[in-house]
Amino acid sequence: MPMKSIINGLRGWIRGISEIERFRKELKAYHAIEHVFLVSSGKAALYLILKALKSLQPDRDEVVVPAFTCYSVPSAIMRAGLRVRLCDIDPETLDFDYTLLEEIIKSDTSERILSLIPTHLFGLPSDVARVRRLITGTGIKLVEDAAQSMGAKVKGQFLGTLGDVGFFSLGRGKAFSTVEGGIVLTSNTHIATALKEELSQFREYRVPEIIGLALQSIILSIFMDPRFFWFPKSLPFLNLGETHFERHFPLKKLSAFQAGVSREWQDSLEKISSIRKRNSAGWTEELKRSEFLNQFKVIETAIPLLRYPLLVRQSDQRWALLKASEARGLGVMQAYPESLDRLDELAQKDHCACCLNAHAVAQQMITLPVHGYVSRMDCQKFRELFALVET
Ligand SMILES: Cc1ncc(COP(=O)(O)O)c(C=O)c1O
Repeated sequence: MPMKSIINGLRGWIRGISEIERFRKELKAYHAIEHVFLVSSGKAALYLILKALKSLQPDRDEVVVPAFTCYSVPSAIMRAGLRVRLCDIDPETLDFDYTLLEEIIKSDTSERILSLIPTHLFGLPSDVARVRRLITGTGIKLVEDAAQSMGAKVKGQFLGTLGDVGFFSLGRGKAFSTVEGGIVLTSNTHIATALKEELSQFREYRVPEIIGLALQSIILSIFMDPRFFWFPKSLPFLNLGETHFERHFPLKKLSAFQAGVSREWQDSLEKISSIRKRNSAGWTEELKRSEFLNQFKVIETAIPLLRYPLLVRQSDQRWALLKASEARGLGVMQAYPESLDRLDELAQKDHCACCLNAHAVAQQMITLPVHGYVSRMDCQKFRELFALVET
C-alpha cells in the first residue's frame, strides 16, 4: 500500500460519511450494480448476506459450499446460525463437482437450502451460469464468493455481479486492499432492503481501531517487498499468510479511513490486474511441460489470478519445494492445509460428508505469487527451485 493511500485514508477519516458515499457511488457505477454495502471484512460481508437472506426465507437453514475454500466461509455461515452443507470439488477446476451438486439440489432435503456459494478461488472462475441453471425454480439464492477476484471479468461481466448477491474482500493480499474490508453487491431490491436492515445492527469502527489500521498500513507499505516480508510475517498480531476458522470476528461498517485509502482504486485495481494477468499467463507457459506439477484446466482463460495454484503429485516433492522456497524467500505457499470436511469445527456434523477430492487437493496444492515483485530475476530463481526438487 503506497504512503499516498495512507494519507488519503487520514484525509478520508476527516471527511467522514461523504468519503464512504463516494466509494459506494464509484463501486456502483464501475460494476453497473444497483446496491453496494461496505463492511469490515469479507466474512462480515458473507454474514450480512446470509442474515439478510435468512430474514427473507426463515424456513431455510442450509448453505452449500465447495469443500475446499477459505475457512472464513464456514465460520461466517455458522456465525449466521446456519448449517454448512459441503459439496466435493472437481480436482481439475476447483469448482463444484457438478454431478454431486445436482444430487444435492435434487435431494429430498433440498427445500432446506437457503443459498449456494460458487467461489472463484484464487480468481479461477466458477461456472456461475451452470449453477444458475441448476437452481432455477428452487428458491435457492446464488451468493457469489468473489472475495479473491475483484476486477476480474468473464465474458465481459465482472465476477461478483453474476449471482443474486456477491461479495469481495478488501483484506490484505487481495486484488485491492484497504487492510481489511468487505463489499456486498446486488441489484435485487428485496435483498438490498433486507441487507440495509441487517447492516443497521453493525457497529462503527472505534478511534483506536482506526489508528491500528493506519499503523498496519504503514508497516505493510514499508515491508511488502518479498525481501523484507519476513518482518511483518513475524509479527503475531498481523497473522500474515495464515488461515483460521474465526468464530467471533467483528461486525463493523467500513470506516471513512478505509474509504479514503480506496481513492483511485479503479486505477490501481486495473494496473494490478494487468500485472497479475501477465504473470499468471507467464506461469502457465513456464510450467506447461513440468512432469511433477499439475495445472488447473481453466487457467487457459486470460484472467488475473490472485495466486497461481498448482498440484504437486508427490508429497515429499511438495514439502521439499515449500521448504526450499521459504529458505529463499520466494513466497511459494501451501494454500488451505485441509478440506472443510476435516476441520474440527465441522468434522462431526452429519451433513458434512467426506470429500475425497477436496482432501487430495489440500494435500497436493501449492500456490505461486503473481504480484508485481515476480520479476524476471525471480523467475530464474523459481526455475532453480523447481529443478532442485525435480532432481
Ligand atoms: C474465498 C474467500 N471467501 C471469503 C473470504 C473472507 O474474507 P476476509 O478475509 O476479508 O474476511 C476470503 C478471505 O481470504 C476468501 O479467500
